[in-house]
Amino acid sequence: MGAARGEFSSRFGFLMAATGSAVGLGNIWGFPTNAASNGGAAFLFTYLVLAFVLAYPALMAELIIGRHARANAVTALRSISRGEKSRLAALLVGFAGIVTVSFILSFYTIVSGWMIAHFFAPIARLLGMQGLAAWLVEDSIVRNGAFVLLFMILTITIISAGVKDGIEKWATRLMPSLILILLLLIGYVLTLPGAMDGLRAYLVPDFSRVTDPALLVDAMGQAFFSLSLGVGTMLIYGSYISSDENLPTVGSLVALLDVGIAVMAGMLILPAMYVALANGVPIYDEAGGLIAGPGLIVSVLPALFSTMGFVGLFVAIAFFALMTIASLTSSISMLEVPVAYGVEHHGVERRKAAIIIGLLITVISLLIVLNFDPLFDMVVTLTTEVSQPLLGFAFCIFVAWIWHRNGILEEIQKGSPEVESGWFWKIWPVYVKYICPPAILLVYFQ
Ligand code: PHE
Repeated sequence: MGAARGEFSSRFGFLMAATGSAVGLGNIWGFPTNAASNGGAAFLFTYLVLAFVLAYPALMAELIIGRHARANAVTALRSISRGEKSRLAALLVGFAGIVTVSFILSFYTIVSGWMIAHFFAPIARLLGMQGLAAWLVEDSIVRNGAFVLLFMILTITIISAGVKDGIEKWATRLMPSLILILLLLIGYVLTLPGAMDGLRAYLVPDFSRVTDPALLVDAMGQAFFSLSLGVGTMLIYGSYISSDENLPTVGSLVALLDVGIAVMAGMLILPAMYVALANGVPIYDEAGGLIAGPGLIVSVLPALFSTMGFVGLFVAIAFFALMTIASLTSSISMLEVPVAYGVEHHGVERRKAAIIIGLLITVISLLIVLNFDPLFDMVVTLTTEVSQPLLGFAFCIFVAWIWHRNGILEEIQKGSPEVESGWFWKIWPVYVKYICPPAILLVYFQ
């Protein structure tokens, strides 16, 4: 075992860290565009239902295991397993989580790098450095590689500083700024011509789509990715929560904040797209759907900002600051998963573990940058669509079928002695046992 474990110093600290992990590119980019291409509020509705019915119970499973074991994913899953076979399964699932999250980080870093480059571009323009500004927004291997490096250095630096002085300190600074910037941007964009059409496209439901299998799969994938589930992130953050904290309450706060910020991001992105349309920027692709992939964030929105003249430079700075903050508070939670394992399981010093593992992931990122077309989509699909839901399923099985019911109750009772008579304990165990696993599989195999 390594040095003494860290712990979040307050409920606010944990909430900001966990919400920081949850709120990322998935909320501000993935959610609004998924909603736009899946029947607007019909997607929103399905997403809300799935988030609370399937993702929240899975989130609780991770938080409870984490705080009980006070250890990384591998050690934690093993500690709640009894027989030889389930201990072996624990090792495999815990390890698969660590590998998956490392690969998620490797592609996440590339996109986050684009966000920082786009953040610096309007600043360069303000300073009169037009050449630099043009280079920053141009897709090139050198630029992408350089910003992967910069983003990973930031991530490694924060994780090296530990739970309280790194993760908590930065999350409590960055997350309130994120919410403030988001509110300011929504307020501004909604005053522009065209914005109301966007709001309508987002909020008027096309209920004929609710039973569409593609919508269900997208909504579930989105909910799992957005709550950072299945890969041990919430488990490791749960392991740093104090024993007198009420887990069902903090878990619901994290889910509410995550969903709330995703819904709010929709009120920024879709109106912004229709403002862009009103300003003559094309927002539909050849197939007639709304542009949703990287093109949306790195070409439609910058094109919109440049139609806004001088103000547009500040809107661009604010928007890409928002994206960078969202990415960084998520990337640190990803790197923490393998680092905690290295520290606790192999006794490596934290700083050293953060640097070695961070460098390894940087190398994978750079390989993807160099072979973008074949690799990028493949890594995204394998990690987020194949591995993450299956691991989420496995976590539910561990908590509901392998761990003793008494152990779970004891753990939750630590911060909420009256839990046994409350709604959470009446519903949740049945849920994770009989509803979540088949529901995840059902949606998965759609
Ligand atoms: N939840 C993050 C987002 O929405 C992504 C993430 C996935 C973070 C898995 C940690 C682990 O962008």
